Amino acid sequence: MCAALSHEHDKPVKVLVAVLTASDRSSRGEREDLSGQEISRIVTEAGWMVLSHTIVADDKQMLKKEMIRLADALKVNLLLTTGGTGLAPQDFTPDATLEVIERTVPGMAEAMRLDSLRKTPHAMLSRAVCGVRGKTLIVNLPGSPRAVRECLEVIMPAIPHAVELLGGGITDCARSV
Ligand code: MTE
Repeated sequence: MCAALSHEHDKPVKVLVAVLTASDRSSRGEREDLSGQEISRIVTEAGWMVLSHTIVADDKQMLKKEMIRLADALKVNLLLTTGGTGLAPQDFTPDATLEVIERTVPGMAEAMRLDSLRKTPHAMLSRAVCGVRGKTLIVNLPGSPRAVRECLEVIMPAIPHAVELLGGGITDCARSV
């Protein structure tokens, strides 16, 4: 069983992270990027390494271009986006993500929404998607520091194993125990 894979006995999985904030106002320097900063703080505290933190306007083409750069050129294990997952006219992050990923990981987005619904009914308004491009796992997080904290708490326990699977080191969960 996958969950029995014990990382306690092995050296911790190295997780290289990129943070991508989607926000018109933050990209113009009119608003502090608090949710992006919160992501960096939380993942750094977990011992993961943030290689890049960029802020891009809510523009689908620009978001796609930056996601492709972070996955294909920087080759991070984990790309965490924040913002632009809702229903406002400028919210394009999930749409950009769907156009760059090769495979979806619906369970991660479902888990975030399920847990978040216990905190706010507005959680059902997040269109966040998660998926894989190459060896990079891309996760959309909503755009507030609180939402970022709540959603990261849900997905972080599964990330090291996801990174191991994407790296190709484990091809069969059952045999790796
Ligand atoms: N999820 C959690 N855990 N906590 C929150 O406060 N806010 C919601 C939702 N998901 C929220 C959340 C709100 S108010 C919206 S509109 C959607 O995420 C989309 O947010 P975004 O457009 O900033 O990405």
